[in-house]
Amino acid sequence: MTRVLLLGGTTEAARMARTLAEAGVDAVYSYAGRTDAPVAPPLPVRVGGFGGVAGLAAYLKAEGISHVIDATHPFAAQMRRNAVDACADAGVPLIALEREPWQAGAGDRWTHVPDLAAAVTALGEAPRRVFLAIGRQNLGAFAGAPQHHYLLRLVDPPTDPLPLPRAEAVIARGPFDVAGDLALLKDHRIEVIVAKNAGGAGAEAKLIAARELKLPVVLIDRPQAPMRRVARTVAEVMAWLVP
Ligand SMILES: NC(=O)c1ccc[n+]([C@@H]2O[C@H](COP(=O)([O-])OP(=O)(O)OC[C@H]3O[C@@H](n4cnc5c(N)ncnc54)[C@H](OP(=O)(O)O)[C@@H]3O)[C@@H](O)[C@H]2O)c1
Repeated sequence: MTRVLLLGGTTEAARMARTLAEAGVDAVYSYAGRTDAPVAPPLPVRVGGFGGVAGLAAYLKAEGISHVIDATHPFAAQMRRNAVDACADAGVPLIALEREPWQAGAGDRWTHVPDLAAAVTALGEAPRRVFLAIGRQNLGAFAGAPQHHYLLRLVDPPTDPLPLPRAEAVIARGPFDVAGDLALLKDHRIEVIVAKNAGGAGAEAKLIAARELKLPVVLIDRPQAPMRRVARTVAEVMAWLVP
């Protein structure tokens, strides 16, 4: 019997969930629980961590999961490692639905950096107006560069004070479009963008807008992924699931 655990929290996972539901596949969608009101997928949902590798392996067995699809964000490094290890322990096959990283094209002014600390350094000493498009979780890394003015885009309004003295937040949920991101960058007189190399269409608009405005972008490389089977499209995952 096929019973799928879909690890989600991304646009790709939402697309995967729709396809699984339309195909009548028995599946559970898992959210980490980071956002207040995530978009409801057309599948049964569970929310919150599993309790590490052991917790996930126990969940797979208890729930009779036959296949795991890891469609988490390319920067969800812990979850993807846990998924590989727990699936190995439980003997459950795993596939990752992973976006291609973005590649610079003509006119792009990108600086690639390996991690958050290097992104902070790349901004330099002189104060700049920065669109810090990295979500909420890693803002603390920029506390050591308080001279910059930071524009943040967050899914939920912040409940705690922001760790950056000169920061303002716009509250918005992707996918975003180029016209909207052009207006955002112009209205806030942004001089440089910091982003994660997430790939995919939903968050690409800011990079296209940056190209049009000839703005520099500091692009943080993805953390290394564990060895696992990878699909680039929902159709590839379905072919793996229902050969
Ligand atoms: N990191 C980003 O930039 C980013 C951007 C957009 C969306 N997201 C989404 O936000 C969620 C959290 O990302 P993260 O970077 O905080 O992950 P992470 O650091 O890799 O994961 C930390 C812990 O959160 C729990 N977790 C993560 N994803 C989960 C899921 N889909 N279902 C159940 N538990 C999950 C696991 O807890 P246990 O060990 O207790 O199981 C995991 O060990 C993911 O669903 C991801 O797809 C992340």
